[in-house]
Amino acid sequence: VDLYAVMGNPVAHSKSPYIHALFASQTEQRLHYNARLVPVDGFAEALNHFFKEERGGHGLSITVPFKEQAWEHAQHRTPRAEKAGAVNTLWISNDGMLYGDNTDGFGLVRDLTVNHQVDLENTRILILGAGGAVRGVLDPILEQKPAELVIANRTVSKAEALAERFPGQPVSAVGFADLSGRFDLIINGTSASLKGDLPPLPAEIVDQQTVCYDMMYGKEITVFNQWGLAQGARKAIDGLGMLVEQAAEQFQIWRGVRPDTLTVLQRLREDMA
Ligand code: ATR
Repeated sequence: VDLYAVMGNPVAHSKSPYIHALFASQTEQRLHYNARLVPVDGFAEALNHFFKEERGGHGLSITVPFKEQAWEHAQHRTPRAEKAGAVNTLWISNDGMLYGDNTDGFGLVRDLTVNHQVDLENTRILILGAGGAVRGVLDPILEQKPAELVIANRTVSKAEALAERFPGQPVSAVGFADLSGRFDLIINGTSASLKGDLPPLPAEIVDQQTVCYDMMYGKEITVFNQWGLAQGARKAIDGLGMLVEQAAEQFQIWRGVRPDTLTVLQRLREDMA
């Protein structure tokens, strides 16, 4: 049986094995997919073991904190992985080479534009955070041709460094205190909500047309989405759809079939309730 896995640290609460198992049964693909806790200094060894020593090792999902290392190990990278500087999908192709892709930005954009019908063209977009989660999604967002993309971060220099990767594009960097004017879409890519924290945001960035999107998700509405709705936002979306859509894109890469995501998303929501 073809073997797949997610590697991360921590990884115990990953929904990826469940999601890929649902995709496999839906598309009648025979495969095994499990979660592997990899020591922070043991990624290279784990990769080697999975692809070389284990029979049937076909593909991997890569999560925190190994996406940058996965990028380095990939012998061939897709253009979008190259731009993201991070890889969340690995596979061995017929030529025996290790390929790397990044489906995170695709997942975010597809969840927004297809599942929620939020059009990004000509809009004013704010993205909060400047870590790995944000870096991986900037280029796919810019491909949707927003009028403006502002990156706001606690450490402004990190936002500036990200903005500099897109010369000639309408991207700028600011600190939270310097945010002004309304935005059509505000995406939270900080890890603040993990601790129940909220960046210090001025109320004026939200109006009745604003859509809030938190890359995080949970049983309860996230702190950021709660804040957005309290400021009168039109809609607040959590990151569960992004998770399922980035996984579906991986599944398509590995197996050549695209699973239906909405039924899987519905199932996950029911389980979480
Ligand atoms: P990830 O790979 O999940 O993006 P990361 O690279 O550690 O993780 O980045 C975490 C992001 O959340 C950063 O933008 C961080 O801001 P700094 O660059 O200033 O550290 C942001 N962040 C984390 N906790 C935060 C908090 N309490 N308030 C605001 N921003 C926070």
